[in-house]
Amino acid sequence: MKRVLSGIQPTADSFHLGNYLGAIRQWVALQDSHDAFYCVVDLHALTVDVDPKVLTERTLASVAQLIALGVDPNRCTIFVQSQVSAHNQLGWVMECLAGFGEASRMTQFKDKSQKAGADRTTVGLFTYPLLQAADIMLYGANLVPVGEDQRQHIELTRDLGQRFNTRYGETLVIPEAQIMKAGAKINDLQDPSAKMSKSAASQAGVIDILDEANVNIKKIKSAVTDMGKEIRFDEKEKPGISNLLTILSHLGGKSIPALEAEFAGSGYGDFKMAVANTVADYFAPVRTRTQQLLTERSELLAIIEAGAKKAEVVASDTLARVYANMGLLPRHR
Ligand code: TRP
Repeated sequence: MKRVLSGIQPTADSFHLGNYLGAIRQWVALQDSHDAFYCVVDLHALTVDVDPKVLTERTLASVAQLIALGVDPNRCTIFVQSQVSAHNQLGWVMECLAGFGEASRMTQFKDKSQKAGADRTTVGLFTYPLLQAADIMLYGANLVPVGEDQRQHIELTRDLGQRFNTRYGETLVIPEAQIMKAGAKINDLQDPSAKMSKSAASQAGVIDILDEANVNIKKIKSAVTDMGKEIRFDEKEKPGISNLLTILSHLGGKSIPALEAEFAGSGYGDFKMAVANTVADYFAPVRTRTQQLLTERSELLAIIEAGAKKAEVVASDTLARVYANMGLLPRHR
C-alpha cells in the first residue's frame, strides 16, 4: 500500500465546512486504500502567537473532530506532531539543505509576513515549509493530499528530498502532491468569491462544524444569494447559489443536476432551508461524538498515545538513516 501523509493545524476551536469538504473528507476516503498518517501539526501552530491553554485545547479538539468525522485510528495513524521529536530533528536537516533564497520564494511566507510586518514575523514562519518537508519525508509518504495553496511547499519538499538523495545516497522517498479537486472548494457564505477561511473578516460566512445546529441554520439562511430566483449552478452569475449547491450536493449525496431539477420552481428560501437542514443533520452526530471524546478524555488520550507510538517507530527509522548517511556520529552502545 502506498503511504499517505497529511497535516492540519490546530489553529481554531472548530474545523469549518471548508476544512471538511476540502481536506478531511479526502483523508477519510484514503485511509482504506493507503497506509495513512494524519498529523495535527501543533509545532506549525507556534509560528504565530498562541496562548498555551488554548493550544492544548485546540490540539485535543482537532484530534477529537478528526475521529468524529471518520478518521479512524484503527485504519490509519493519527498523531500529534510535537510528540514525535524526529520532526524537529529532520526539520533542522532540511533547514541546512535549503537555500535562503529558495525558502524566500515561498509565496505563503511572503503573503503572511507582509500582512504581519517584519517585527511580528517569526523565523519559524520562514522555516515553516522545511518543518513541513520533514513531516512528509519522515514517513516515506508517496502521496500528500493538500489544497492548491500547498503545492509550492510540496514542490520544495521534492527538491529537498532529491537534493538529499543526490548528496548522501538514496534515503528519502520523493512525495507527490495530490491536490484536492476544485469541486470541493467551499466559499464564504457572505462573500462567495472568497474561500471559506478561519481568517475571514466576519464569522457569519463560516460554517463551524462544532457550532450548534441553530447557529449554522441561521448562517445559511442569511447567506448572500444572487440576482434572479432560479436555483442553478453558475459560478459566474450565481456564486452564492452555486456555493450552496456544492455544499448540499457533497453532504446530501445528490448530483448538482439532480438538485437543480429537484429545486426547479422553488424559491431561494426553501432551497436555503434544505441546505441548512442537511448541514445541521450531517454534523449533529459529529458534534456529539467530539464532545464525548473531549469529556471522557481517557479514550482520546489513549488514541493519541497509540498514534505517537506508531508514528515514532517509522519516524525514528528514517531519521537514523538520514543521520547515518550524513555522517553524524552514531551512539556507541
Ligand atoms: N502547511 C499545511 C497547511 O497549512 C499543514 C501541514 C503541515 C501539512 N505539515 C504538513 C500538510 C505535511 C501536508 C503535509 O495546510
